[in-house]
Amino acid sequence: MKAEILKYIDIAERTGVFRSAEIDVLKEILREIKKNPKSHYTLLEREVGRDLLGFAIIGRTPMTEFAWDIYWLVVDPGCHRRGIAGRLLEDVESQVLRACDKVVLRVETSSRASYLPARNFYLKHGFVESGCINDFYADGDSLVIFTKRLEKSYS
Ligand SMILES: CC(C)(COP(=O)(O)OP(=O)(O)OC[C@H]1O[C@@H](n2cnc3c(N)ncnc32)[C@H](O)[C@@H]1OP(=O)(O)O)[C@@H](O)C(=O)NCCC(=O)NCCS
Repeated sequence: MKAEILKYIDIAERTGVFRSAEIDVLKEILREIKKNPKSHYTLLEREVGRDLLGFAIIGRTPMTEFAWDIYWLVVDPGCHRRGIAGRLLEDVESQVLRACDKVVLRVETSSRASYLPARNFYLKHGFVESGCINDFYADGDSLVIFTKRLEKSYS
């Protein structure tokens, strides 16, 4: 694996929530981002010095006028619950509002117990549960969709 993507994969693996197939997809996306500056994906990072604390990967949702997906939001398990994901989400919101006057942010996550922190996080930050597909990822593992609407403020 190329050194430039190692630090992201290391954090994602250490959270313990992602399946190996998901980590493989993350590797592909990171390679694409590093290779192609005009990639569909945008990578946002939070660091202290040279240490990566967390990252988000977002992209415009194809075939929509102003929807964006948060594909990945991952914080180093050594510094959970210190507001790092909250700051990454602020970065995400600023970034998407630079591109669009109004935005629908969408996140697809899982109903598994290991994603309870993520579900709580989105609810705490103004997302609403907008849909659920039972047994989508696997038996007993449903797809849960969260969305949040944003508008540019000119004040
Ligand atoms: C979800 C995740 C990104 C949150 O990162 P974080 O930096 O710890 O989050 P913040 O400190 O900004 O926000 C904390 C809020 O998230 C929720 N939360 C975080 N950890 C939680 C936990 N263990 N149990 C319950 N709620 C939790 C709470 O709403 C919490 O607010 P509170 O501390 O006031 O109760 C992090 O737990 C993570 O990387 N998880 C693994 C990857 C993942 O699930 N990503 C999302 C995929 S869609």
